[in-house]
Amino acid sequence: MNLSTTYLGLELKNPIVPSSSPLMSDVANIKRMEDAGAAAIVLHSLFEEQITNEALELHYHTTQGTESFAEAITYFPEPTEYRLGTDDYIEHIAKVKKTIEIPVIASLNGVSSGGWTKYARLMEEAGADALELNLYYVATDPMADGNFLEAAYLATLMDVRSQIKIPIAVKLSPFYTSLPNMAKKLVDAGANGLVLFNRFYQPDFDIEELKVKSNIILSQSSMIRLSLRWIAILHGRLSNVSMAATGGVHNGSDAIKLFMAGADVAYTCSALLKEGPGAVARILSEVSDWMTIHEYESVEQMKGSMSQKSVADPGAFERALYLKELQSFH
Ligand SMILES: Cc1cc2nc3c(=O)[nH]c(=O)nc-3n(C[C@H](O)[C@H](O)[C@H](O)COP(=O)(O)O)c2cc1C
Repeated sequence: MNLSTTYLGLELKNPIVPSSSPLMSDVANIKRMEDAGAAAIVLHSLFEEQITNEALELHYHTTQGTESFAEAITYFPEPTEYRLGTDDYIEHIAKVKKTIEIPVIASLNGVSSGGWTKYARLMEEAGADALELNLYYVATDPMADGNFLEAAYLATLMDVRSQIKIPIAVKLSPFYTSLPNMAKKLVDAGANGLVLFNRFYQPDFDIEELKVKSNIILSQSSMIRLSLRWIAILHGRLSNVSMAATGGVHNGSDAIKLFMAGADVAYTCSALLKEGPGAVARILSEVSDWMTIHEYESVEQMKGSMSQKSVADPGAFERALYLKELQSFH
């Protein structure tokens, strides 16, 4: 049975990839994931704020007494709240590369163009095989329209693109008026892959303390449906772009559905946080058991077999399904 796949031009032995999470700040954890069968790993993110904060701090210390900088610094988390400093992050890439043989995808997380994007080059120099650019932004300004924000994201991508030669995947939000159009613009601006989707962490209220509180809720399998739909719609519509599915991959059938939609790889994160690195081996054996029973010889054979272009009822991905579901619910 051939489980191999190509993602961002990288030849991977199978399509299961542990995605960005705090587990990735520990080299021993990453080694365990490789031993469990992971085909590649995505490191936790280095954040624009983290880079800018360090630069501001440096500036502040060299221009003591300049109040505006002191004020600017207070917007950012304390440096101690980050898992690794920027230099540590770059060293971490080099250490991980020495420890494992599978491809290492570094992650840069930010939304504006500017000096911080030069870290993409440092990541490439440290040995990263590819870079994931996470465009995570919560738009709150009614005056900033979609065109303006999309142009800013594209400028950020182009900035990063100009720094490096390794492939770039963009981890994007599902919230665009026309997701296929934005996906195309990202590909035209130099993205080699799309990671669908960023999960937006929702704030909650503590109604006793009257405070906004946050706690990350790990995913469940039902959450694959968001990327399932969009990967199925995008498959075959954009040329020369890889697609990774992230969000809700907990078992073999979640992954198989996503390959059938058209994903080249399935990322998994919550399953690893709940279960440890062994989740990779379990998901992989569930995929291959299913393939054996259903007489599939390769992952390639599954890819896109249930995409919108391949299914008998393409309307099932659109408004038609919505009408049918609402009217037939008892
Ligand atoms: C605790 C935690 C930390 C995460 N950190 C990052 C990060 O640094 N960068 C990033 O791009 N995604 C990060 N993610 C998102 C995951 O990589 C993944 O895309 C998301 O959790 C959905 O996948 P899942 O359903 O398998 O958990 C994080 C997720 C969790 C739960």
